[in-house]
Amino acid sequence: MNSVQPLHGKVALITGSSRGIGRAIALELARLGADIVVHYLRKKSAAAETAAAIQNLDRRAVTVQANLAEAGQIAAMFKTIEAEFGRCDIFVGNAASGTPRDILDVTDKHWDWTMDVNARSILRCVQKAVPWMEQAGWGRVVNITSPGSTRVLPHYGAIGLSKATIEALTRYLAVDLAPKGIIVNAVSPGLVKTDAVSAFPVDLQATFDYAVSRTPAGRLVTPADVARVVGFLCTDAASMIVGQTILVDGGYSLLA
Ligand SMILES: NC(=O)c1ccc[n+]([C@@H]2O[C@H](COP(=O)([O-])OP(=O)(O)OC[C@H]3O[C@@H](n4cnc5c(N)ncnc54)[C@H](OP(=O)(O)O)[C@@H]3O)[C@@H](O)[C@H]2O)c1
Repeated sequence: MNSVQPLHGKVALITGSSRGIGRAIALELARLGADIVVHYLRKKSAAAETAAAIQNLDRRAVTVQANLAEAGQIAAMFKTIEAEFGRCDIFVGNAASGTPRDILDVTDKHWDWTMDVNARSILRCVQKAVPWMEQAGWGRVVNITSPGSTRVLPHYGAIGLSKATIEALTRYLAVDLAPKGIIVNAVSPGLVKTDAVSAFPVDLQATFDYAVSRTPAGRLVTPADVARVVGFLCTDAASMIVGQTILVDGGYSLLA
C-alpha cells in the first residue's frame, strides 16, 4: 500500500458531498488516493464543482443524484456506480435532512422523512455496497452523526432521534461486518459553519460565539477537521477502531 496515497485503487461513495462537510470528506479521500462518487440531491452545480476539484487532484469523480428517502433512487445510484466503477470500497453516510422542530411538534411525515433520509438510507446503501466489499475482502463505512444523538439540542427533535439510530446502527453493522474485513465507525462533529446550521431559527452569530467561548480548543470545528478523521478511519492504521463514535468537537462536550 502506498503510504502517501493509502486509498489508491479504492472507490468511495460519500452521500451529500455536493457541499459542506461531505464535500470536505470527498476531497480528503481523493487526496488519500480514492476515486470518488459525489452524491447530491438538489445542488447539481455544487456537485459538479466538487467533482472538478477532485479531478484536479488527478482522481476520477462521478456525480450521481438520488433522493435518499427513496429506496428505488438508492438502487439506481448503485446501478450507476456499478456501470462507472464496478465496485464501492468506502461508504460515507453523510447526507442529512430534517426541519428544525421541537420534539412535540414532530409529525408522522416529518419523522418518516428524517429517519429515512438520515438513518434508513445508510442501511440501504450498506446492504448494496457490502457484496463488493466482501468480494474485495476490505471495506470501510463511516457514518456522520451528531452530539444531538445523546444531548438535547434546541429544535433538533427528529434529527436527534435519527442520529441516535445511526450510532446504534453503526455498532450493529460493525459487529456483523468486522469478520469480513469491513470496518464500521461513526464520526460526530461539534458545531461546523455550513448551510445546515443556517436553517435553525437561532441567532447564528451568538451561537457561534458561545460555541467558541466554551470550546477548550478555542475555535469552531471546520469541515476539514472532520474530513481528516474520516480519512484516518478509512486507512489500515485505524483498522482496530471498530463500531465507535468519534467526537470531533475540540473538547466542547467535556465541560459540564
Ligand atoms: N454542520 C454542523 O454543525 C454539523 C454538526 C454535527 C453533525 N453534522 C452532520 O454532518 C453531516 C453534513 O452536514 P452539513 O452541515 O455539511 O450539511 P449541508 O451543508 O446542509 O449538506 C447536506 C448534504 O446532504 C444532501 N441532502 C440533503 N437531503 C438529502 C436527501 N433527501 N437525499 C439526498 N441528499 C440529501 C445535500 O444535497 P444537495 O446539496 O444536493 O442539497 C447536501 O449535500 C450531516 O449528517 C449533519 O447532520 C453537521
